[in-house]
Amino acid sequence: MCGIVGYIGNKSAVDILIDGLKQLEYRGYDSSGVALMNTDNIDIYKAEGKLQNLADKLFMNRDKVVNSTLGIGHIRWATHGAPTVINAHPHTCNCGGVAVVHNGIIENYKELRAKLEAEGCVFRSQTDTETVAHLIAKKYSQCKNLTEAVRLASLEIEGAYAICVMHKDLPNELVVTKRNAPLIVGVGEDEFIVASDVPAFIKYTKKAVYLKDNQIATITRENLNIIDLNNNSIFFTTEVLPWEPASLSKMGYKHFMLKEIHEQPAVIRNILSGKLRSVDEDIYLDELKLDKDSIKNLSRIQIIACGTSLHAAMIGKYIIESLCEIPVDVEASSEYIYRKNVTDKNTLVIGVSQSGETADTLTAIKQAKSKSCHIVIITNRPDSAMAREADSLLAINAGIEVSVAATKSYMAQLLSFYLLALKIAETKGSADKSLLKSLKEDLILIPQKLEQILSNKDQIQQCAREYANTKDFIFIARGVNYPTALEGALKLKEISYINATGYCAGELKHGPIAMLDESMPVLAILMKGLVYDKILSNSEESKARNARMIALTNSNDVKLDLLFDFVIRVPDVQEYLSPLIAIVPLQLLAYYIAEFLGKDVDQPRNLAKSVTVE
Ligand code: G6P
Repeated sequence: MCGIVGYIGNKSAVDILIDGLKQLEYRGYDSSGVALMNTDNIDIYKAEGKLQNLADKLFMNRDKVVNSTLGIGHIRWATHGAPTVINAHPHTCNCGGVAVVHNGIIENYKELRAKLEAEGCVFRSQTDTETVAHLIAKKYSQCKNLTEAVRLASLEIEGAYAICVMHKDLPNELVVTKRNAPLIVGVGEDEFIVASDVPAFIKYTKKAVYLKDNQIATITRENLNIIDLNNNSIFFTTEVLPWEPASLSKMGYKHFMLKEIHEQPAVIRNILSGKLRSVDEDIYLDELKLDKDSIKNLSRIQIIACGTSLHAAMIGKYIIESLCEIPVDVEASSEYIYRKNVTDKNTLVIGVSQSGETADTLTAIKQAKSKSCHIVIITNRPDSAMAREADSLLAINAGIEVSVAATKSYMAQLLSFYLLALKIAETKGSADKSLLKSLKEDLILIPQKLEQILSNKDQIQQCAREYANTKDFIFIARGVNYPTALEGALKLKEISYINATGYCAGELKHGPIAMLDESMPVLAILMKGLVYDKILSNSEESKARNARMIALTNSNDVKLDLLFDFVIRVPDVQEYLSPLIAIVPLQLLAYYIAEFLGKDVDQPRNLAKSVTVE
């Protein structure tokens, strides 16, 4: 995690760095810092907490910082050491000559630190990054060349990193390198801005060079040179990015999360417009680079993901198995990596990731790729590292999602799974044609049903007010909506810190029922279909233990008003598509509870939107 930015040019560096870091806050926000080149030394400013604290500190010192035209900046998500000022980046060597910002984890930092301490380096922080600063300084003292010092240090460092380095004796030089962490060089007129992600510099330039792993770039105001770890010069091309500076406006909403929840109908319409052109035609999914025979020969599908993407994957499994007659396994990437996986050339592996950067999923995908499986990547970032591993890239096109809690990207991932399942089923002829047609007809209606939910938020706000002051919350569901229960619980947990858990309702009586009493809210997702009656029975069992019962339902059955203390009603929808409808009230419920409790909805504690460490 963490975000890094570096600037070298003729403008004041500090504003560009802070502006860039602001765009990278999704990568962490527990502390931040900048290093700015002064006439004869490097000035460092750091602050705990939100970026604004650093911006305020720099504002107070405006006269001292405004003239610097070379600097590096960092926004942190703590991995080694608490989020204190001492542990905040940039880190320096003992003489303050070298300043470094880093995103990633130096895996052999303990060994390196012991060695450097034995050689006289005095460490001030608990971070792995400080090792890099001392190591580069040692190398520099021997070779007097910062690029060479970074190259020699890279040969000793193990782990994942993107680093940006400056030296007090080099007022026209920035050296950057990366391995398994993102780093992009924005190329301007007599200026360069390096960053972990494009939004940090897109306002200033659309030209960029994507550094590859183990490449080292030496940047002056006039030039960019790239070498590899063997000191070979690298020929590189500058891309013109198809990006527009994103307006990160909340558009009048109190939080990005609420805005992004409201964007979901438009996200669905946008995705369907190109892919579902007519209910009588097959789904257009040219991005799936498998021919008919390969699709027909698929023996198995493995889906790998983390967090919210994992829940989308679980619904994907249900739909694909129902329509395509192919067994599907879903696994958390972090588990997939550390066990023997049985795959063959007829196994399709799907990686799902909003960011396309999640370290566990990326590693899992690389493992699967090494076994020659066809790799499908479902991501919101077609420019990401994961996208580059794809044989088939399904870009979900949800637009930039700012809130750490994923909402519209989840919706778009679900849509991708429905379209993929329809495409495979059409190709294989594995499902009844009238079912496929009715799914397409009903998919088109989903956006307007979501709009009905969004215009009828009062019921959910009222529910939020009634249940906000609870310590625990249970969500139950079965079948296709079991993952919806998990996702509803995750949303609530993430932003309100209430101990929320999702269960498949049939499992309740095998242990969790012991938790139920008059203080425990149990929200049952009761969508009409195969398991409706079963969940109703499970709800009766909970009611008999005095739990506070909430129903989320598309049924008009008035008996529900007797069994449940609170009933949230949503528009009718066929069961297969019900996860698209059921999740929205749960996102809103989590949002309104967190807002009622006064939590930091868009940037919840301890989390980051992009998790680039295993
Ligand atoms: C983090 C985020 C979650 C996200 C998960 C997976 O934990 O806080 O919101 O679901 O990473 O991220 P990905 O980008 O791979 O979907």
